[in-house]
Amino acid sequence: MDVKTTRLCPAIGAEISGLDVSDISSGNLIGELRQAVNEAGGLLVLRDQELTPEQHVDFSRAFGPLFGEAEQLQNTVKPYLHPDFPQIYRVSNKVVDGKVQGRQRAGTYWHSDVSFRKKPAMFSILYGIEVPPLGGDTVFTNMTLAYEALSDAMKEMIAPLHAVHHFAGASNAAWSHEKVEEEDLEGANVAEHPVVRIHAETGAKSLFVNPGNTSHLIGFSPEESNALLGFLYEHAIQPEFQYRHRWCPRDLIIWDNRCTLHYAISDYSADRYMHRTTVIGEEPVAA
Ligand code: OGA
Ligand code: MN
Repeated sequence: MDVKTTRLCPAIGAEISGLDVSDISSGNLIGELRQAVNEAGGLLVLRDQELTPEQHVDFSRAFGPLFGEAEQLQNTVKPYLHPDFPQIYRVSNKVVDGKVQGRQRAGTYWHSDVSFRKKPAMFSILYGIEVPPLGGDTVFTNMTLAYEALSDAMKEMIAPLHAVHHFAGASNAAWSHEKVEEEDLEGANVAEHPVVRIHAETGAKSLFVNPGNTSHLIGFSPEESNALLGFLYEHAIQPEFQYRHRWCPRDLIIWDNRCTLHYAISDYSADRYMHRTTVIGEEPVAA
């Protein structure tokens, strides 16, 4: 089968057909996917992938070290990890025999995965095993386009700024709705990052703040910080910068958390069951 790449919308995303990621030794699969994800603004959709948890983990590890292996995710998500593969974070609303099958309604706010760590996530690789017949879409926004669309004056103003990212530290994060392990609120889950970062592979500048995890801008009063962050968020989530994914079973989505945000739409009650692996990235470099 021929490998074919189709852009999904002008702002972000490409769909690749004709690739089977269960065999990572085939050709230069990983190199080609890295190039494709960069060309598509940080989002790739691969349809019809048949993957065991082990194959999912092996494929993901080919991009770099994984959370759950090289470094652990926060304790709060431990109950949601796959019982046999700690590299797999289960995102699901399912309960079987009284046991939750994953984190329910994860990411129902705009965010970049694990941005509260010194080395935040690079790629998240989410595999849709059971998806609702309708609803449960995921929306992505391109933070490079969002940055580029700012005025020169705004770009100059935000260039030197840094923000604090905090697990459960942002007021509108959905984490506030459930129990958070106390120790997660300390040290390891707080980090300072530049507001504008340079992508290690493309050299492009992206906005790197998000409503889910960014608590405040350093050096500003709370009111000033909220106003400026609020403007940047409103700006970044314009529909022109977005792609909305309607899931089919066996879709595998790869996104680059360095230059995108995503949002899980909470508009369904049917069963949804997904496996996510998360590749650890580098320390963000200021533009
Ligand atoms: C995630 C996440 C989105 C979704 O897995 O990191 O935010 O639609 N999930 O489930
Ligand atoms: Mn997420």
